[in-house]
Amino acid sequence: MTDKNLEFSVKSGDPEKQRSACLVAGVFEGRKLSSAARRLDEASNGALGAILRRGDLEGKSGQSLLLHNLPGVLCERLLLIGCGKEKEFHENRYRETLAKAAKALQDTGAGDATLYLTELEVRGRDIRWKLRQAVETVEDALYRFDRLKSEKTERRRPLRKLILPVAKRSDLAAGEEAIKQGKAIAAGMSLAKDLGNLPGNICTPAYLAEQAIELGKQYNFKTTVLEQADMEKLGMGALLSVARGSRQPPKLIVLEYHGGHEGEAPIALIGKGLTFDAGGISIKPAANMDEMKYDMCGGASVLGAFKALAQLQLPINVVGVIPSSENLPDGNANKPGDIVTSMSGQTIEILNTDAEGRLILCDALTYTERYHPAAVVDMATLTGACVIALGSHPSGLLSNHDALARELINAGKYAWDRAWQLPLWDDYQKQLDSNFADIANIGGREGGAITAACFLARFAKKFKWAHLDIAGTAWKGGKEKGATGRPVPLLVTFLLQRCQPHAE
Ligand code: BES
Ligand code: MN
Ligand code: ZN
Repeated sequence: MTDKNLEFSVKSGDPEKQRSACLVAGVFEGRKLSSAARRLDEASNGALGAILRRGDLEGKSGQSLLLHNLPGVLCERLLLIGCGKEKEFHENRYRETLAKAAKALQDTGAGDATLYLTELEVRGRDIRWKLRQAVETVEDALYRFDRLKSEKTERRRPLRKLILPVAKRSDLAAGEEAIKQGKAIAAGMSLAKDLGNLPGNICTPAYLAEQAIELGKQYNFKTTVLEQADMEKLGMGALLSVARGSRQPPKLIVLEYHGGHEGEAPIALIGKGLTFDAGGISIKPAANMDEMKYDMCGGASVLGAFKALAQLQLPINVVGVIPSSENLPDGNANKPGDIVTSMSGQTIEILNTDAEGRLILCDALTYTERYHPAAVVDMATLTGACVIALGSHPSGLLSNHDALARELINAGKYAWDRAWQLPLWDDYQKQLDSNFADIANIGGREGGAITAACFLARFAKKFKWAHLDIAGTAWKGGKEKGATGRPVPLLVTFLLQRCQPHAE
């Protein structure tokens, strides 16, 4: 959960005249002062420079130094943040510096602060970008998930207000808008993180469906939940087969947001909502299996994107479809070799019950045809192979339409939630040949992320479609374990750009 009370505002003005509880300014390596720090040094008659010469802050990335009562400066605290080499100050460094500042601020008693880090130059990025990123990065750094701990991390004097300065008064309007977008994206990410971090015994398909209904009530859009019987009538034999091994009934969650013109073709967002993936009969090894509670992060990103888009009241029509189930071993579960019939009529030989994501997604794709969407994007923690191919920095992107792929890649670059395209060539399709059915659900070890997408592509022939494999990006393992809220920033940026096709 993020602190609901964290408020952002934009302001133009000189640092030495600010009255907030803490000023934050950057220092580059070699004790090179940023322009705000230089002004403070001048206002204090060189006191700042003198302190730095004592050697307490070299300006290396990750360093910070809290000073009190600098002479000539109205503000009682000054937090200096090391920014690393000025020449290397690009997007990642900007974001790391802000995250460091947010965490350091939280450890002070300051209830509000003015962040002069937004003045730092990031090549190719304007004030709008810097402010939106500042909001998202700070909210991300301050996110915590302690809902299930008996002792909450309450702070005696929590940070309540952050002021983001801009250089010129003429930047104020753009700044306000950037903050609004940043807040909405951060709220969507926070929802996606909460749902991802919740364990499988709480976040079940029914729980996801309830959350979707709640969200729809809160923001006044329509939510429908298709139950097992509804899916049987539709012939969703692939999706239903995955749920056979579970005591939790599957759900197909459908969200409809109407912000655009009546009758305008919607964008469809489909998200894998597998609330726990044990692999089924083709069971996974025990190590780190707990992380398979994150197998619903694609679905959570649809809910997060809807939250943001509804908060921003975007003038666009969007449909969300979240197929949700567990994948567990059981006497009634899918077995290797089983053949099921999908809603599209194509028969599928299930050679590995652990390749279940594509089984629930293929029926969701076919279901989406009824909306005649302008474009379809699915998000899924689909393959370990994608993590081997790309690691955890970009999401994998595969598409049957190059212009749509480019649009998403650009949205990801702007959002700093990047995707990298892999080839969806027909050459790979024969790896999915089955001896006994129309298609097999696995294609061997080679190009595993691609063959998974090739499987989906057979169900996405009726529309422009792109698939984001978020297996490497939706959560972090290791010490800082937790959901990331990705790819909510990419999705919301994509939708924003669809609303104003000529803006960035
Ligand atoms: N949810 C997993 C993919 C996954 C695995 C994501 C590990 C992140 C980390 C998916 O359902 C799965 O099990 N995929 C299999 C496919 C294989 C059987 C073809 C995989 O990647 O091993
Ligand atoms: Mn699996
Ligand atoms: Zn899975």
